[in-house]
Amino acid sequence: MAAFQPSLECENISNIHSDQTDSDLIQKTDERYRETLPNLPKGKGWMTEHLVQYQGFWLTPNAALKILMWVQDHFKPRPTDIFLASFPKSGTTWLKALIFATVNRTRYGFADHPLLTTGPHDCFPFLDAHLQEKDRSRFDLDRFPSPRLLSIHIPYILLPNSMTDHQSCRFVYICRDPKDVLVSKWLFLNKLRPKDFPPISLEEAFELFCQGISHYGPFWDHVLGYWEASLETPEKILFLKYEDLKKEPLVVVKRLGDFLGYPFSLEEESKGVVEEIVKLCSFENLSTLEVNKVSVQKFSKDTIIDNRHFFRKGKVGDWKSYLTTEMVERLDEITYEKLLGSGLVFGS
Ligand code: A3P
Repeated sequence: MAAFQPSLECENISNIHSDQTDSDLIQKTDERYRETLPNLPKGKGWMTEHLVQYQGFWLTPNAALKILMWVQDHFKPRPTDIFLASFPKSGTTWLKALIFATVNRTRYGFADHPLLTTGPHDCFPFLDAHLQEKDRSRFDLDRFPSPRLLSIHIPYILLPNSMTDHQSCRFVYICRDPKDVLVSKWLFLNKLRPKDFPPISLEEAFELFCQGISHYGPFWDHVLGYWEASLETPEKILFLKYEDLKKEPLVVVKRLGDFLGYPFSLEEESKGVVEEIVKLCSFENLSTLEVNKVSVQKFSKDTIIDNRHFFRKGKVGDWKSYLTTEMVERLDEITYEKLLGSGLVFGS
């Protein structure tokens, strides 16, 4: 994946791996990975054959577990880093576009904006891209200009202290009603299942989801980790809901600007800059762009995804077309119990 980054000019390139090369560090992580993997509990995979449980969360044995270990062992955050964190299918693609457009708004005009020709996942890459051997030279984190925009699905409590301590980087987390997450995830991952795997039924996906066995699940533990951290350090973590973003995009984008240290001036507001960003990043606009219809994303050696799969309906409450009354009741009950006392609620 060739990550689009604004400019390397005048950048003070950090030399964080001065004694050991990147390949040495990746090799070290590989050793720990090879020792750990055989001892981990296995659960049924949605896209791969298995998921493995590591430190309480379910991960794909290849890509997700390896990137987590590398982040835990070797990743060096910069205080200026901006992380977009999410449980998969919660609105990551949309928020990538919104943050990229907000942070870079003085750099680009809306008529020839990079988001019109480059997909959100290339403008705002996943941290995982660093570990793809072939692309490492094209995705060199040390050479990224600040602020680096990086996306992760890693649960908050598994992040290294260097990322969570008060002085370092900022996070924007997006969550979504688990019923919509489940449906979106089931439809998405069935499209990605290898051809020789039969499709996974909604009933089976539902059971696995309820048991917490889904990529980076349990869903509720993932959300609560960021929620609680956002209450403790609101200046470090902005906690957003997909549903709020749908309802009041202008309000949320202004909050984003304030939180990230790129507040919108009165002049920008009166010129309609916030509206332009919301329009540029809207489902209606992004989903019809050629780049988001034809290009592919290479997330790991084995995972190549058509950009169009990241844009399905973009609606709140599409679960109503898929889930039975019993499913809704059970999922709502689990959510109620898990979130009880946390102060976090999802509308039903
Ligand atoms: P649906 O499958 O419910 O349509 P992620 O980016 O985390 O993978 O989440 C994908 C979900 O976000 C999909 O939901 C997708 O359609 C929706 N989405 C993508 N871009 C969007 C946008 N610009 N506005 C609103 N929703 C968007």
